[in-house]
Amino acid sequence: MFKSLIVGNWKMHGTAQTAVNLATQLAEDWNADNEVEMVVFPPFVHISAVAAAVAKSAISIGAQNVSEYSAGAYTGETSAEMLVDQGCKYALVGHSERRALQNESSETVAEKFIAAQNAGLIPILCVGESLQQRQNNQTVEVVSGQIAAVIERAGLQNVCRAVIAYEPVWAVGTGETATPEQAQQVHSAIRAQLGEAGTATPLLYGGSVNAANAADLFAQPDINGGLVGGASLEAVEFLNIAKLIEA
Ligand code: PGA
Repeated sequence: MFKSLIVGNWKMHGTAQTAVNLATQLAEDWNADNEVEMVVFPPFVHISAVAAAVAKSAISIGAQNVSEYSAGAYTGETSAEMLVDQGCKYALVGHSERRALQNESSETVAEKFIAAQNAGLIPILCVGESLQQRQNNQTVEVVSGQIAAVIERAGLQNVCRAVIAYEPVWAVGTGETATPEQAQQVHSAIRAQLGEAGTATPLLYGGSVNAANAADLFAQPDINGGLVGGASLEAVEFLNIAKLIEA
């Protein structure tokens, strides 16, 4: 059986108080018996406060980034061990905003993936094509290349015990969403790339998911949940999206 996930990426938003309020609202409503796992990704400085707020709930915590190094003179960085220590279970690696704004290469993404997994975090590997790459019919090539770079360094089995999120760059934060057919096409290509070892790897879709478009996306056979940015900052909206996922 697939594990389904609903992931809220809060990005760089909110104070400690608004983060705790949001987490508390989610924790009050989210049923521990739910087959779908809810994970929230607060800004680093709010992780411990949010972890305390959801401690008695079924909600898990993730980190929006992780250092590829385990310790040392890396000013401003946070190691996977530190994130585990703060209560994180997951880490995003290769989010398109970090690939673009922090120039993270596929090699760095692979190293972050390995560092996260070595410390016991479950990496959520984000992949996706730009608008130009889609227009040039390079979508599957780009996405499979991003995944291959991690398989090459971490090994196929290790990639298959992580989570992969397909997030077309042109759909992230733009209000534009891939159609369910476009998303399914890429998800089925990812599933084929992982082969036998990846039949139970959760594959998430992300990119302007909201309560109005989520049901059709989540109905696709190879979409096992969502990675939600903007719409995860509103408790009611995020819960409505979460409830559309069938475990
Ligand atoms: P969005 O962000 O839902 O605001 O498009 C998705 C993401 O960045 O993971």
